[in-house]
Amino acid sequence: MRDLWMLAVGPAHHLQRTLCHAHAPGSCRTTRAAAFWFTMPAMAQAKRKILVTSALPYANGPIHLGHLVEYIQTDIWVRFQKMCGHDCYYVCADDAHGTPIMLRAQQEGIEPGALIARMGQDHLRDFTDFGIGFDNYGSTDSAENRELVTQIYRTLKAGGHISTRTIKQAYDPVKNMFLPDRFIRGTCPRCGAPDQYGDSCEVCGATYLPTELKNPVSAISGATPVQKESEHYFFRLGDFEDTLRTWLFPDITQPRHVQAEVANKLDEWFSAGLQDWDISRDTPYFGFEIPDAPGKYFYVWLDAPVGYMASFRQLCERAAIGFDEYWAADAKPELYHFIGKDILYFHALFWPAMLEGAGFRKPTAIFAHGFLTVNGKKMSKSRGTFINARTYLDHLSPEYLRYYFANKLGAHVEDIDLNLDDFIARVNSDLVGKYVNIASRAAGLLHRHFSGEIAARSSGTGNTRDPAATPSDDIIESALQAAARIGDSYEERRFGSVVRETMNLADAFNQWWDRHRPWELSKQFEHPARPQDNEALHAICSTALEGFRILTLFLKPVLPELARNAERFLNLAPQTWKDLAVPLATGHRINPYQHLATRVDPKQVQAMLDNSRENLTMTTQTTATEPAAGAAAAEPIKPEIAIDDFAKIDLRVARIVKAGYVEGADKLLQLTVDIGEGRTRNIFAGIRSAYAPGDLEGRLTVVVANLAPRKMKFGVSEGMVLAAGPGGKDLWVLSPDTGAQPGMRIK
Ligand code: MSP
Ligand code: ZN
Repeated sequence: MRDLWMLAVGPAHHLQRTLCHAHAPGSCRTTRAAAFWFTMPAMAQAKRKILVTSALPYANGPIHLGHLVEYIQTDIWVRFQKMCGHDCYYVCADDAHGTPIMLRAQQEGIEPGALIARMGQDHLRDFTDFGIGFDNYGSTDSAENRELVTQIYRTLKAGGHISTRTIKQAYDPVKNMFLPDRFIRGTCPRCGAPDQYGDSCEVCGATYLPTELKNPVSAISGATPVQKESEHYFFRLGDFEDTLRTWLFPDITQPRHVQAEVANKLDEWFSAGLQDWDISRDTPYFGFEIPDAPGKYFYVWLDAPVGYMASFRQLCERAAIGFDEYWAADAKPELYHFIGKDILYFHALFWPAMLEGAGFRKPTAIFAHGFLTVNGKKMSKSRGTFINARTYLDHLSPEYLRYYFANKLGAHVEDIDLNLDDFIARVNSDLVGKYVNIASRAAGLLHRHFSGEIAARSSGTGNTRDPAATPSDDIIESALQAAARIGDSYEERRFGSVVRETMNLADAFNQWWDRHRPWELSKQFEHPARPQDNEALHAICSTALEGFRILTLFLKPVLPELARNAERFLNLAPQTWKDLAVPLATGHRINPYQHLATRVDPKQVQAMLDNSRENLTMTTQTTATEPAAGAAAAEPIKPEIAIDDFAKIDLRVARIVKAGYVEGADKLLQLTVDIGEGRTRNIFAGIRSAYAPGDLEGRLTVVVANLAPRKMKFGVSEGMVLAAGPGGKDLWVLSPDTGAQPGMRIK
């Protein structure tokens, strides 16, 4: 019987898979080695050794859906490699060092060690519940990392790649610490906007040195910073210019290490010149002390990527893997870093240079992805679309997000959008309506009439009363022929193609089923019109279930849990890619169907959004009653004023009539507001990072109506909109309670 099935699988040449071992996936422009891996997998498809990482999430905040784009993308790729039988290891860790973590621990009144232990656990729990299967999850604050960082630093130093010089920097005389730019606030030297960051103005978009800021204050203590000298350590990136150039812009015959669009971006940075990189921070700092430099610490970004190696070292010790085999300068195994586009500079310049200088291998490739938007907009706390991993899990199945992200992911750096209506539609109509549907239909009939036993198939076993019926072998063969393309799509991170191709096949199976009308055969089962009708019914159900098995395999890297449940239902051991060629055997008994996935109810999505907004209020309340994280909580109260001082400020309820972008200003929105004067006013507000024009039009807010008009590059601003928050996406425009009318005075 097995022979018949093998016939159905088709000649081996359909099943050849092309794969290039030598080159970064998707980058090979020369050879494409064919592997006959269904028929003789062990011999032909050499076992690859692959080490994969995702960026290390900061230990000072929870995992959110934006992060998950990256961890889900990486996990799918890794699961595919593992399913193909390669030695593929996936490591990650918490990024535990730096000033924000130190300050947050202080505010919570705990040791940084306790904070990062708690965060690390929370992160790992979130990841695990999303099906992300790290082989090791470490911390950059580990003994292994300290050792490796020290070793790397010493080698770089011995090689002459570290220099020191004295620099002047803002210093908080109350807290006795140097202030990172983000922790200095003051008046913009260009446009005069108050309360701007030490490195850039959110109103006019200017960037400057913290020393240029007017009336600077420390965001931690409120004290006026003083300038203080200190000796800093620098990594001489310029020493590696040639290495980096060859590595980043190889000639056409060589493999690429970054995506083409990334190479273009890097080219711009190259033209701007490679500056020395400041790798030291003064005490107090939470991190590793620099050897022979008391009071000096490694900047968090120096030890963070070394955390990849350190986490892998922990795995090596546990699983008896040779660390050097993977990291020595001439190491053969492949090494891939999945990262977001915001941290390219660190990964594509500093990191390969550090590795080169310290005598280690460089990555095989860096895969950068874009940022997540929700419903076409930046994730926003006020809209409830800044969704934490845990909040999502409280309402929806993790597999659905994996499926949806896979559907959207490709090999490029483009941003991806989570459109929540589309999310519901894709899960309900495709995943449940097409794929799962095949199993539920076929299993019902197979159990009713054949006690769940799979039949032998032979060609021509359709419902022969229908002349349009195709023999069952064809549909199985066309599914198997897709395997090579789907495998390539996985390899090249085109997961959207994987999902589309699989869903097309699911469509084909459903149509095939409908054409054969097995329900008619089922009705006359006790009294078949022709003796072979019952046999035909048996073959149709068995073929559909074999199709379901193949589609399950195709989707398994994306949907590990659903696939495992499907395997249990089919009564099969965990399947690997090779098992594509091993059909359900004649006489094999499947288990009764239990539903594999339920439809998403739009109410669940709404509840998740409401909950994300609630979380936000809860955090704000905590901030008000007890010291919590972030500079906002620590922002000092300004000197006392009299009621007359306050009365000078004319605050009015305003309706935002129109809102739009300002060309050339990436921080600003242009607002047309009505404050009941019989005319409208024009206001430029530095809130573009948190709001899209469409969110604002029509709503009420509060403006300072008697602020002197300010002439800006883009026009005159006739007032100021009030908003709270530290900036970036954490910015909230004020609203009056319902009932207030434009023009009403706030007193
Ligand atoms: N700690 C650094 C990485 C050090 S790696 C040696 C860091 N941490 S992070 O928590 O801010 O981000 C972790 C990863 O998640 C980064 O690759 C980042 O690009 C990604 N994302 C964070 N927010 C994201 C979105 N909104 N959308 C997509 N990816 C995002 O950076
Ligand atoms: Zn400015």
